[in-house]
Amino acid sequence: MQYKSCFENIILWYSRNKRDLPFRGVRDPYKTWLSEIMLQQTQVKTAIPYYNRWVERFPTLKDVSNANIEELLKFWEGLGYYRRVHNFFKAAKAVTKVHDGVIPKNYNSFISLPGVGEYTAAAVLSIAYEKPYPAIDVNVKRVLARILGIKNFTVFNSKRIHKILKKNIELFHPGSFNQSLMELGALICKPKRPVCPKCPARLYCKGFNLDKPEVYPVIKKRNKKPHYSLVSAVIWRGENFYIQKRNNEGMLPGLWETPCIKIKKGEKPETSLIIGIQKKLGILVKIINRIGVVEHAYSHFSITLRGFNCVEINSQFKGVNNFDWISKMDLDNFTFPRANYKLFNLIDQKV
Ligand code: ADE
Repeated sequence: MQYKSCFENIILWYSRNKRDLPFRGVRDPYKTWLSEIMLQQTQVKTAIPYYNRWVERFPTLKDVSNANIEELLKFWEGLGYYRRVHNFFKAAKAVTKVHDGVIPKNYNSFISLPGVGEYTAAAVLSIAYEKPYPAIDVNVKRVLARILGIKNFTVFNSKRIHKILKKNIELFHPGSFNQSLMELGALICKPKRPVCPKCPARLYCKGFNLDKPEVYPVIKKRNKKPHYSLVSAVIWRGENFYIQKRNNEGMLPGLWETPCIKIKKGEKPETSLIIGIQKKLGILVKIINRIGVVEHAYSHFSITLRGFNCVEINSQFKGVNNFDWISKMDLDNFTFPRANYKLFNLIDQKV
């Protein structure tokens, strides 16, 4: 089957119905790239205020490469998946140094930058430079799965989708082609309750023609997120308390925190905290009082966090790579995981 007129319809629909988003029509590859990084794993309406604040503070890629990671993290705070901002920073520095500040138009050069995968490379190069690479994210995959009647993204089916898109993107403006499919997936061909009567592709769509679009593609059950119980020490020296920087690998990279200890079922939080803090920091602490309990769900796991106000009674403080003693007034100068803020909100008294 030829799909040219199907894509023609989708692009026409897009030209009439696309959302007015701040990164649309900007004609600045840096801003397109930034928006695509922000939109990975993040909904458009969540990303918009972050995008606007960011481009006001960092109007060019050079401004990003000249910034420091602490400030960038602060601008990213709350968006999650902090690895993205570390990679974007590294990539901005590489573009400034290796590519004279010009974002590469060449696919292989661009995809070799930190944090740039197949989707991002195709999205940015098509939108910013009109290069004919299909950008296949979950929305686009779902749209094509329904049109073609694909239940599972086997290697064969994924190649088939790519081949059809590649053949057709050459016939249109690649930026509009890719964005029209993303937009259709976001506004009409939604995972649940697609709005088929308004769909410009319905006459070409196997899902619609069989009257059951939702069965394509089969939705895999997600594994349940792990849950951890943590205890955290807010260790006071007068007005100040101790914070440390998480390393750049693993979860929540580069964010600051009050030290936390994971506890197992049946362990007494207070005892685990005192032993854990001594092991990790060489500080013997005395617990002054409980701060409270917070619950928080991150993207990959959820936690119950119990906080305790503490003081040192015997310190052979080893310290960690990066630490500080700060007061509550200084919180704005650091980026913390959300759960830590919830805990800070419960600290209403100095010890
Ligand atoms: N999601 C990811 N990239 C997008 C874009 N350019 N437009 C709309 N939604 C998107």
